[in-house]
Amino acid sequence: MRTDVLPMPAVLPRHIAIIMDGNGRWARSRRMPRLFGHHAGVEALHRVVDACGRLGIPMLTVYAFSTENWARPQEEVSGLMRLLADSFIRYLDRLIEAGVRIRHLGRTDRLPGDLLARIRDAEASTAGNQRLQLNVALNYGGRAEVVDAVRRLAASGADMTQLTEEQITANLYTAGLPDPDLVIRTGGEVRMSNFLLWQSAYAEYYATDKFWPDFGEPDLRQALATFAGRQRRFGGVVART
Ligand code: FPP
Repeated sequence: MRTDVLPMPAVLPRHIAIIMDGNGRWARSRRMPRLFGHHAGVEALHRVVDACGRLGIPMLTVYAFSTENWARPQEEVSGLMRLLADSFIRYLDRLIEAGVRIRHLGRTDRLPGDLLARIRDAEASTAGNQRLQLNVALNYGGRAEVVDAVRRLAASGADMTQLTEEQITANLYTAGLPDPDLVIRTGGEVRMSNFLLWQSAYAEYYATDKFWPDFGEPDLRQALATFAGRQRRFGGVVART
């Protein structure tokens, strides 16, 4: 099927979240080091951000580095940290021009100082942008996020015996953001990997075998078409989209 000419479905997700998997295997299939795959992954992200802006998707969240990824070989971790910091510098002007607002989701404790500075700089200089919000989950874990929210609530003196879902939601890294409607995973695996566990309670999942560096607008359109064909019931009987 020609996916690049698929008409845009009438029902679009307001918030797409992506598990960008397969960079390492993409590189290995080319007999190249894993970091080569991560570099190509940044290019793919740039294309998808661009496509979301044009297609009218207002929010995108990407899983750039999980709390579990620190267990990878030291060389890959430090290379990734450098790549991420460089990417924030390299793409910042283009993001500003394209009306993209950046927000970091995750813990800041183990992040190198220069990367954290780049993130804070990107957040501050894109704060007024409204076309597309790009949330970058970096040093992110879904369980850690809930733990952090509960700790914050406890520290604030909240009555822990009467906690509500709304209180937890309001204290997650994603406070104030809509839940994802669609979670896309590339790279052939079909699991959640500790990504947006709380927020994805009613998200539609879409998995593709394509490695992330090969993912582009035609694949995004295919995911959107699949999403539009799903009937969402949110645990009830009446579809709301
Ligand atoms: C998964 O592939 C990918 C990552 C752990 C890192 C993804 C990061 C990027 C694409 C860069 C994002 C850039 C910015 C600026 C946010 P993998 O290494 O798990 O691949 P494998 O499953 O084939 O080994």
